[in-house]
Amino acid sequence: MTRKRVTVAFLREKEELAQMTEDVRAGLLGKPKDLSPWPKYLYDEKGSELFEEITALPEYYQTRTELLILEEKAPEIVARTHCRELVELGSGSASKTRTLLDAMIANRESSVPGDGQVRYVPLDVSESALRSSARRLLEEYSSSLEISGFVGDFDLSLESLLARSRGAEKPGRLIIFLGGTIGNFKPERRQKFLQRLRGGLGERDYLLIGVDLVKDARILEAAYDDKTGITARFNKNLLNVLNRELGGEFDPDLFAHQAHYDAGAARIEMWLDSKVRQKVAVAALGLEVSFEAGEGMRTEISYKFTLESVADAFEKAGLRLLELYTDEENLFGLALGTTR
Ligand code: SAH
Ligand code: AVI
Repeated sequence: MTRKRVTVAFLREKEELAQMTEDVRAGLLGKPKDLSPWPKYLYDEKGSELFEEITALPEYYQTRTELLILEEKAPEIVARTHCRELVELGSGSASKTRTLLDAMIANRESSVPGDGQVRYVPLDVSESALRSSARRLLEEYSSSLEISGFVGDFDLSLESLLARSRGAEKPGRLIIFLGGTIGNFKPERRQKFLQRLRGGLGERDYLLIGVDLVKDARILEAAYDDKTGITARFNKNLLNVLNRELGGEFDPDLFAHQAHYDAGAARIEMWLDSKVRQKVAVAALGLEVSFEAGEGMRTEISYKFTLESVADAFEKAGLRLLELYTDEENLFGLALGTTR
């Protein structure tokens, strides 16, 4: 029997454009203007490509550091959790995921000789990123991997994803949320999200969450305002998304990228500051949005963590933190947790 080893399905909770219209309206009418509650709008096809470029920047230490930790610890994590199914939220290019897949396949082959099938269930809002990463992984892993990908919103579709991702055999699952993406949620939303994750975990399931760690503000600010201006392009691309999807008339050249670290809140904030006094029409909203010269619009927040704040977040969500794996310089962490 030939098995179909890649499927891509759509998890859609609501008419996407209607949802976006509602979100952006709320964001542009806020004081300050604030689109940071909806980071997913940064990741259209161009945004996903620009994020990939960010991950290779010398200033953006996060990706390479998380990869380093995974290269070293994946076998231990898999041996500890005995999982054979990997569910990934916000998988993007899944460039670090193969460390865990390799370890799962090796672990499975050593315990059940000849039967190396591991299941990978990525979910991402970016269909282009999801499809190209699934294709690449399948080429690489041919017979040892089964992939069921979902295009959707990990927030809106979390429960249905966790309910659907289970294979017939119900092995333990490792649910991973890499890259520090959990830092893009405000604390209240983060807590709710962790609680909902907990609610969807079975007895044999584990969570592995990447968190960027608190450090010197200069290192953090450089990571979000790189010399070559890729992060500025990533940020301004949000305006192109608003123009294309909602009939906006934003001129990206009339906005300046800005990133600063708020040490009190332990978060980076990304803004687009209007260079001039201007009015911008957004047809789908039936709005003319006024900007004063120098007025900013927040586009992203990115929280930074300590061992204490990770432990606290897990505890409040009813999760047990088994370990925070870090690199030698304590730049980045991977939090392993369970319900027990
Ligand atoms: N995990 C990858 C990518 C991180 S970038 C890494 O560690 O490099 C954040 C990813 O989350 C992007 O691929 C983006 O498309 C996805 N994303 C952002 N908001 C999302 C949402 N609400 N639902 C699903 N995916 C989302
Ligand atoms: C996906 N997320 C964790 C990135 C971050 O660092 O907050 C997105 C990003 N924004 C600017 N650079 C990278």
